[in-house]
Amino acid sequence: MELKKAMSEPRCVWSHSQMTVFFGYVLLCWVLATPGTAYSLENCTIVNTENVTLDCRNRKLGAIPADIPQRTTSLDISTNLIWKIEKGDLKNKSMLIKLRMDSNQISHVDDETFSDLKALQMLDLSNNKLTSISDLMFLGLNTLSKLLINDNLITTITLQSFQNFHNLKYVDLTNNHLGQLSSMKPILQLPQLNNLFIGENKFTYFLSSEISNKSIALRNLDISDNPMTFFNITDNVFPDLQYLGLARCGTKDMEWNVPDRSFLSNVTSLSLTDVRLSLEMMSTMLQSFTTSLAKIVIYNLLDEHAWPLINIACQIPTLETLQLQNISTVSEKLLQSCTHLIDLNLEYSNLTELHEFSFRPMKQIRRLILRSNQFSAVPNATRNLTTLQILDLRNNSIQSLCCLDFAKLTRLKELYLNNNQITDIKHCFFQDLRALEYLDLDSNTIQDVGDTFKEGFQKLKLLNLNKNQLTSIQPDSFKGLKSLKVLYLSYNQILYMQPGAFQGLTRLTDLHVGNNWLVSEYPLTYSVFKGLKSLQTLDISQNNIYYSTDKEVPSIFSTLTSLKYLYFDTQGPEGEHIHHIPTHFLKGLRSLVMFSAERLFLNSLSKDTFLYTPHLEVLNISNNDFRSLSPELFQAIPMLKELHVQHARLLSLDFLILANLTQLTYLNVKLNEFTEINETVIHSVPALNYLDMQDNLLSCDCMNAWFIQWLKNDTSTQVVYAHDLVCRFKEYKKPTKLMDFDIHTCSEDFGFFYFISTTSVVLLTLLGSLTYYFLRWQVVYAYYLFLAYLHDTKHRKRPAPNQYDAFVSYNSQDEPWVLEELLPELEENQGWRLCLHHRDFQPGKPIVENITDAIYGSRKTICVITRRYLESEWCSREIQVASFRLFDEQKDVLILVFLEEIPDQQLSLYHRMRKMLKKRTYLSWPRAGEHTETFWLKLRMALETRDNDDEENLLIGPRQR
Ligand SMILES: *[C@@H]1O[C@H](CO)[C@@H](O)[C@H](O)[C@H]1NC(C)=O
Ligand SMILES: *[C@@H]1O[C@H](CO)[C@@H](O)[C@H](O)[C@H]1NC(C)=O
Ligand SMILES: *[C@@H]1O[C@H](CO)[C@@H](O)[C@H](O)[C@H]1NC(C)=O
Ligand SMILES: *[C@@H]1O[C@H](CO)[C@@H](O)[C@H](O)[C@H]1NC(C)=O
Repeated sequence: MELKKAMSEPRCVWSHSQMTVFFGYVLLCWVLATPGTAYSLENCTIVNTENVTLDCRNRKLGAIPADIPQRTTSLDISTNLIWKIEKGDLKNKSMLIKLRMDSNQISHVDDETFSDLKALQMLDLSNNKLTSISDLMFLGLNTLSKLLINDNLITTITLQSFQNFHNLKYVDLTNNHLGQLSSMKPILQLPQLNNLFIGENKFTYFLSSEISNKSIALRNLDISDNPMTFFNITDNVFPDLQYLGLARCGTKDMEWNVPDRSFLSNVTSLSLTDVRLSLEMMSTMLQSFTTSLAKIVIYNLLDEHAWPLINIACQIPTLETLQLQNISTVSEKLLQSCTHLIDLNLEYSNLTELHEFSFRPMKQIRRLILRSNQFSAVPNATRNLTTLQILDLRNNSIQSLCCLDFAKLTRLKELYLNNNQITDIKHCFFQDLRALEYLDLDSNTIQDVGDTFKEGFQKLKLLNLNKNQLTSIQPDSFKGLKSLKVLYLSYNQILYMQPGAFQGLTRLTDLHVGNNWLVSEYPLTYSVFKGLKSLQTLDISQNNIYYSTDKEVPSIFSTLTSLKYLYFDTQGPEGEHIHHIPTHFLKGLRSLVMFSAERLFLNSLSKDTFLYTPHLEVLNISNNDFRSLSPELFQAIPMLKELHVQHARLLSLDFLILANLTQLTYLNVKLNEFTEINETVIHSVPALNYLDMQDNLLSCDCMNAWFIQWLKNDTSTQVVYAHDLVCRFKEYKKPTKLMDFDIHTCSEDFGFFYFISTTSVVLLTLLGSLTYYFLRWQVVYAYYLFLAYLHDTKHRKRPAPNQYDAFVSYNSQDEPWVLEELLPELEENQGWRLCLHHRDFQPGKPIVENITDAIYGSRKTICVITRRYLESEWCSREIQVASFRLFDEQKDVLILVFLEEIPDQQLSLYHRMRKMLKKRTYLSWPRAGEHTETFWLKLRMALETRDNDDEENLLIGPRQR
């Protein structure tokens, strides 16, 4: 029955204008040759259409997709199952600049695979299974500047492998199995190389003479995590080196030998984390950097090494930054020599307290990081650091503050107190912080802000109070924050915000009050948001705001004339849904550009909802319960560019036809319930370039034929995952791929699209109509005669082999009889080979040609005649071609089977048929009655007659005229 559905469009009904159009189509197809390449890719999404950027991540791909456009500039195929790259895989991708293939299973790369990538700058092959880099592997990558091959299994790099990489600046070989330092030679000799990462390999020594005797332009070198026993620099090969990473590098008895202090004289940054050398060797090592070192990172210092090493390090006059993660105690003397430090980091150290004078020597300290420790109060040591600009105390256990905690920190700009247990804040805590711009109190247990922010804080730009326990916002709470731009109040328990809550915040641009307990019982009114004249973003998602349908509320946002982005997702009392947005909800928001109203379980939106927001460009109304949307809704927002209506139970997209969304470029209608999408809908959104319509209930129906054709040929709209779209036949629940649905079984007028605009067709139509009107039959006969002639000349030399015993011509509505009665009897019982259009016609070939071929390729043509068959006069074109064959080849090929009795007078309407019947014999199914065996026997005899048999033998049947 699958077939029946596919054929439900009466296939044979061609009006005469369609016929003329069809001639035009054939002509134009011939003229136009090939259509453009389709835009929707099988295994990738085009995320940027200008600089063609492809995202093919995470699709379980086993190979590089074959349909990557030639003009692609950026391609990401990471996180797939590719295990080898073959030579043709990246052919002609000469515009590719960035190629990511990390996190695959690649163990083999053909030689010269990348040779067409003449513009490639970045290649990421990290996290694969490569074992070696051979001479020809990277051949041709002359423009490459960044190469990532970390996290592979590489043991060898051959000598010639990095020839001609004139621009290569960055190579990451971290975590491989390299052990021979000499294998680095081809890389280190690259003229532009700045960054080389060879950590986590198996190098046991580092000997500059083995790599090079002349200077190398390297700036950053990381050799961390190698089991070094020997580090020896004998020449000034790294005059430009700025960073040297030695973390976890070396064994207890590693020898450090840099005889000349000028050799590493430009190194400014050094990582010595977990370097476990003897104290003497560590000291020697530090002595090699005394001229320029500005930053040292030493995590996990051994207790006994701490003071001596920090003492040496801090005596380097240029040292500014010291990072000492995981240090067990900070005594009074530990940092005594660090007088010029600007930046000190003591994070993740489990510190519970600090000596009061720990930081006293640091007269220039600007940044102090004490995060992720165990402080239960702000350490006294931080007071009076008058130069401090940034103080980070996040992730501690601070429970309360006191008025002296930040005394004299008059230059402090950023204070991080997030992730503590502060329950209470007062104005005096922060009174000296006159320069404060950024205050982060996220994730504490503050219940009330009281008077804290009513004055002072002249320069505060951002205040984060997310994830606290605030229950309400009183009037004028933030009155003093004249410069505040961003205020976070999300994830609290705010039940209501009083009128005037945000009074004074005249510069505020972003207000976040999402994820609170705002309820409809304390309605939001315009006076809550009064005074927010600069507000651009308002997030009140995830609250409990509920509007019943019978009540219109006063508009809330009428004062927010600058608001551009409004988030109102997920509302309603717990377990219930909002279902309704008041008609005048958006009144006043004349600058609104984006509105998000997801997950409200709305049943409808009033058609006047957007009357107030004429500049709306992005609308997200996904996860609602619409079923249908009114086109009028959209007529007020003609600038709409992006529309998200995912998962909204839409039964059709017809609302787009009258919505007049001429600017719409992005449409997401994933997970809805529409079964078809037709030409008119697509034409109504002419600017569309992105369409996501996965997971709908498309039917495998000729109604979708035009759409399928469009999917394959359109060059301006990307339909994401187009090749994975499925459709269903009504009777068969099992979905099949939409693209595989054979639209050739549908009428051919989808081709209309291609040439409707061409005047030649108009002319042809005119001409054809006239000719048709006046010379109907002559034209038709001439046409078929012409076809027959063509066919004849084509096949004269090589007579078409009789591929089939019979071609069966029938109207689609008679298909059940053909499939259930005729086919089993003739094919299974009698063993004939039949040609049926839905099954055996070659897709892609014009129908008329298919018919001609079928008739000429079959010994006989069986016409299954009913009134419906006759009514569609073009249906009898099979009869016509067949009778031409009779005329042309002097062969009788026609067998007529009547499925119903057709009285004489009715038949007389079809004078051609009648004429034929006067001469011919036919079989009648109704007459056969119970005795179908006789009927089948006669049909067998008719099929058995050979071409050279006497014509009389063909004349069989119950009734002779
Ligand atoms: C897309 O991926 C599938 C499955 O990996 C594969 O069979 C198909 O050939 C790919 N298509 C193209 C165009 O590469
Ligand atoms: C550097 O010079 C030494 C001694 O002359 C030599 O043994 C070594 O091979 C040279 N290294 C390179 C990389 O040319
Ligand atoms: C559709 O929009 C265009 C411009 O966006 C406008 O010119 C035209 O009048 C509108 N048509 C209707 C039917 O509203
Ligand atoms: C497309 O759908 C609309 C609305 O259902 C209908 O009016 C129109 O005739 C359809 N167009 C085609 C080409 O089927």
